[in-house]
Amino acid sequence: MKLLIVSDLHSNRENLEAVLDAEADADRVYCAGDVVDVGFDPCGVIDILRERSIPCVMGNHDEKIIRLWQEGVDRQRPPKNFPEHNAQLLDAERIAYLRALPDRLTFSHDGVSYLMTHLYEGYEVLRSDYDFDAFWADAAVDPEASHRCIILGHTHHQAVTWLAADRCWINPGSIGYNRPQDPFPGTRYMTIVDGTPHFHRLEHPAWRSRPALREEFAQRYPQPAK
Ligand SMILES: [Fe+2]
Repeated sequence: MKLLIVSDLHSNRENLEAVLDAEADADRVYCAGDVVDVGFDPCGVIDILRERSIPCVMGNHDEKIIRLWQEGVDRQRPPKNFPEHNAQLLDAERIAYLRALPDRLTFSHDGVSYLMTHLYEGYEVLRSDYDFDAFWADAAVDPEASHRCIILGHTHHQAVTWLAADRCWINPGSIGYNRPQDPFPGTRYMTIVDGTPHFHRLEHPAWRSRPALREEFAQRYPQPAK
């Protein structure tokens, strides 16, 4: 079975569509959170996840946009930043979708048990098998599972880390944007084929760096002089 693992979509529909097209033969798709913020099309991204029934967990940026929306959004003036922009675009139905996202999801394929959640203690990573086991037990995941994999998002740093022969955690990298130190000009994601993780990087015409996204925002929504 081929699993497609994506994360940190950040309202970037074009990047998500490029990856879904490139991996059209994937049997299942999973998303490790941060659906919205930092991009221009939160509605388009949410609609793809809903239409394709892609299981997804809640990210910290999703929480932020929900909070902002609930506090009330002024749609009469241009947005100052991406959070305001995204909150202005979202309607009650899509906010309800975000609010319903779980913190954690568990599933099994090809003899591997998976625990998917957006982040592990801020920007920390799982450094040891005992940290792994404690986190696994805390999430009430099957203690008898023979092969265990924790899927994390948040850092945008693509990685597979084996802590023992039967325990690894992975981060698929970000669909939306890469960290400044990442030289790759494209979208990162992972597949897991018959239980084995594979790294992927995809260059495509719609990809933009985060500075380019910021520049485009400033052009679209010039701020009034103070
Ligand atoms: Fe993120």
